[in-house]
Amino acid sequence: RPKATLHTLRQLYKRKIPIATITAHDFPSALAADQAGTDLILVGDSLAMVALGYTSTNQVTMEDMIHHSRAVVRGTKSAYVVADLPFGTYEASPEDAVRNAVRLIREGGVEAVKLEGGKEMAVTIERLTTVGIPVLGHIGLLPQRQAALGGFRVQGKTAASAAQLLEDALALEKAGCFALVLEAMPAEIAEIITKRITIPTIGIGAGSACSGQVLVQLDMLGAFERFVPKFVKQYESIGVKTRQAIGKYIEEVKARSFPAMEHTYPIKPEELEKFKA
Ligand code: KIV
Ligand code: NA
Repeated sequence: RPKATLHTLRQLYKRKIPIATITAHDFPSALAADQAGTDLILVGDSLAMVALGYTSTNQVTMEDMIHHSRAVVRGTKSAYVVADLPFGTYEASPEDAVRNAVRLIREGGVEAVKLEGGKEMAVTIERLTTVGIPVLGHIGLLPQRQAALGGFRVQGKTAASAAQLLEDALALEKAGCFALVLEAMPAEIAEIITKRITIPTIGIGAGSACSGQVLVQLDMLGAFERFVPKFVKQYESIGVKTRQAIGKYIEEVKARSFPAMEHTYPIKPEELEKFKA
């Protein structure tokens, strides 16, 4: 597979081929996603909760994001790689946003950044895109604004809220986003937004009419079990499988049945005899 670019994503969108997106937070998860053939890899700030054990996305720092982005980039050959601008690194001013986006690209090695918010972020996004930084927008449920939203709540459930989402989507398209993540909203609303804009929508809890889908890798693998949002389909139960495997290992260590002969290094009998003598 050749390296995916914005052009590749644009071609998929034009040909109405869904854009498969998945998060990766380290080298093995990037290798797995890339080798499986995902179009886009997102180094999401979901890192905070699913991989670093923080209680909120907002505890993740630029240093965390750069450190993990570098590992993901080392494991990626073909997918297009986008990283989240963490909470607090882009809201205060477009200058902050440019400075931190440049760090994610230069130090983290990613190709584009994602940031949360609707039309209130349009000026910032325009600044980023006009200096050549590709931006993935993100509207609907915004985990970074969890405190203000009163928890992880589905958005666009009223006509007024849906109208706001559409207005935001149009503003972000105009500001130059190459695509928009639509998180946790009724499928009908995501479908209308998808039809009204001319850039791809990447849905998560937003129905099948979106131009692509995204899931958090550790969620879809069943590795993060603290809570499972309605929109997560668990394709595997690696949490259970991992515990079983480690449990078996511990049992065998206690029983001295591991390591077996095949895991040990031989020595010639005459050498051993000489050594013992
Ligand atoms: O942080 C993340 O993983 C995300 C996706 C779920 C869209 O923002
Ligand atoms: Na995120």
